[in-house]
Amino acid sequence: MLNDQKVCFSGVQPSGNLTIGNYLGALRNFSAYSEAYKCFYCVVDEHAITVRQEPAELRRRTFETLALYIACGLDPDKNTLYVQSHVPAHAELAWILNCFTMFGELSRMTQFKDKSARHADNINAGLFTYPVLMASDILLYQTDVVPVGVDQKQHVELCRDVAERFNQVFPGTFTVPQPMIAENGKKIMSLAEPAKKMSKSDENPNAVVYILDDRDTIIRKFRRAVTDSDTVVRFAEGKDGINNLMTIYACFTGKTMEEIEREFAGKGYGDFKAAVGEVTADALTPVRTRFGELLADKAYLEAQMKKGADEAAYVARRTLSKVQKKLGFVPRA
Ligand code: TRP
Repeated sequence: MLNDQKVCFSGVQPSGNLTIGNYLGALRNFSAYSEAYKCFYCVVDEHAITVRQEPAELRRRTFETLALYIACGLDPDKNTLYVQSHVPAHAELAWILNCFTMFGELSRMTQFKDKSARHADNINAGLFTYPVLMASDILLYQTDVVPVGVDQKQHVELCRDVAERFNQVFPGTFTVPQPMIAENGKKIMSLAEPAKKMSKSDENPNAVVYILDDRDTIIRKFRRAVTDSDTVVRFAEGKDGINNLMTIYACFTGKTMEEIEREFAGKGYGDFKAAVGEVTADALTPVRTRFGELLADKAYLEAQMKKGADEAAYVARRTLSKVQKKLGFVPRA
């Protein structure tokens, strides 16, 4: 980056409602990085259209995702917050990187295999080359670190391979990024089937706590969480439900598992579940309030999007020009 500051890049899709898993594993930590890194956080609308989207929904969710970034504590003056399609360099570099990515590599991506099974009627080329666009996102900013959930680690590794391959032919082009997987909150499980990851697209509404759920809903969902036939709050093998609730409680309170076990010694699961609901609702209520205020001010959000896109486009263009020159594209006079 310009002044030797390390660069952090991440993206969130404007599809579906984000869960406490997304909050704890990603969004909540994003604001902490802006001290140490120059951060770019992108709303990846181009990735979203690899599966069919309702246009009005996509537009609404793009605003909502940007608002959520800010509501989760990202200061738009300290971070570059923007929308992917506002910066055409993403799609342009993606084409070039397509020519440096192997068919076989893309065929091995587990997300592609999952998504093509789930959307068997629409296995389009974009779904297949999704990781190439993601590599473009990352490499345009000469990114050092990419905070992602474990499910995206494979894509970041592919990005590294593509960057190294390109650098082999054209030395010194791209910084090779590292994935950064958040230590805690990396795996929040479903409240209904605690052996399964909590997923924003789960059909059972009681399985998932959304960042924007209201207080009563949050408390009710935790009250219904599946536990086990034991009665003691302790972290142990075979207690997936309790382990998950303890993980969530630990994430929101900063307490260790031992501290939690001591706190709930002699108390039942009912008390514990109520406490998990309370701490979660306490943490998320200010986010929801701020989110509501932001969405009511569309002009503010539009202005932030524009500012972010201008900042991003400037950096992205420099990398893209360098790449085009190296490849032998004739600069436009
Ligand atoms: N693929 C990521 C996801 O679905 C979103 C994403 C797109 C991303 N581009 C990125 C994440 C670049 C990190 C860096 O979660």
